[in-house]
Amino acid sequence: MSAPTWPAWLPLRDSLRGLTPYGAPQISSVTRMNTNENPYPPSTSLAREISAKVLSIAQELNRYPDRDATKLRAGLADYLNQSSSARLTSEQIWAANGSNEIIQTLFLAFGERGALGFVPSYSMHALIAKVTSTRWVDGRRDSDFSLNQQVSLSDIARERPSLTFITTPNNPTGSTVSLETIEILANATAEVGGLLLVDEAYAEFSAQPSAITLLAKYPNIVVIRTMSKAFAFAGARIGYLAANQQIVQAVQLVRLPYHLSQVTQALGLVALEHKDELLQNVNKLVAARNQMSQDLLNLGCKVIPSEANFILFAVGNSGDVWTSLLDKGILIRDVGLPGYLRVTVGTEEENKRFIQALSISLPPKGGNP
Ligand SMILES: Cc1ncc(COP(=O)(O)O)c(C=O)c1O
Repeated sequence: MSAPTWPAWLPLRDSLRGLTPYGAPQISSVTRMNTNENPYPPSTSLAREISAKVLSIAQELNRYPDRDATKLRAGLADYLNQSSSARLTSEQIWAANGSNEIIQTLFLAFGERGALGFVPSYSMHALIAKVTSTRWVDGRRDSDFSLNQQVSLSDIARERPSLTFITTPNNPTGSTVSLETIEILANATAEVGGLLLVDEAYAEFSAQPSAITLLAKYPNIVVIRTMSKAFAFAGARIGYLAANQQIVQAVQLVRLPYHLSQVTQALGLVALEHKDELLQNVNKLVAARNQMSQDLLNLGCKVIPSEANFILFAVGNSGDVWTSLLDKGILIRDVGLPGYLRVTVGTEEENKRFIQALSISLPPKGGNP
């Protein structure tokens, strides 16, 4: 999509004039494997419980919601403590409408001296930087997309950003960063007076331990999480962060009053009560991801090893392959990396359909560029 042409009378900020809105295609008539959603919807019994909850709070909608989402934050702290053997309190958690809002809030509170991220990574980090008028620096990765510790350290020392992003597992590559490296980067960012933001949107799909376990030792680490992926709750829009209590207090300076609706807070609590059910498909998706990686290799594609619910793979003529798949009713993601495409792991049926469609969409003589 090209940037709109803005009329002269519109006093739009100069920094926004060249931008296009974020917009992964949403086409309902195709198999959607392009936005890393969880393909399994809530069960009928859970949907009923959600309806009952919404009905029970409907009669209180004349009142503003709990501004501080106290119960939801306590529930999220319990979830993290159970899953990562941490000892977080609810004062160390902040929740918002998706982790995108969490990220925006962090930029608003702490973006003064600019932000650094190691690309390719989640494109919204840089876009939210622009929208909040925060200087953004593209840090470098190795040619296999892995994070190069030495290069990252020199980028941090040179740029002295107030925010440095690590995404693990990384989107769009699916690769992870070890806790050892995160500790080294936490020290480096602390030395320049910055925060290390560890975006763990896909943590539940990975075997790596979470950076939650480092929070007690490093007050400048912020872990960003979401219910959109493993919890299969993207439509509810619930993201959260875990960090030092003073970071949460600072974030409260910039959040809008009553930002998280009563309905959203209630849905989040229902999801946490039913976490075992909602998370039960994570293992299934991990097994399907591993199977799909193997199927892609068998088709001759180069595959970047993934610990998330998606896979980045290389094919010749990637643009043509993407179009050919769409013609066959399968929507995957062209992430703007020449020669690469990203596919989200779907149901077993969807994965089979994708592999079959890909096998007849690849250029002759296998898929390697
Ligand atoms: C790395 C990463 N962080 C954050 C998000 C935002 O997720 P949400 O706003 O749905 O919580 C995404 C979504 O795809 C993502 O890939």
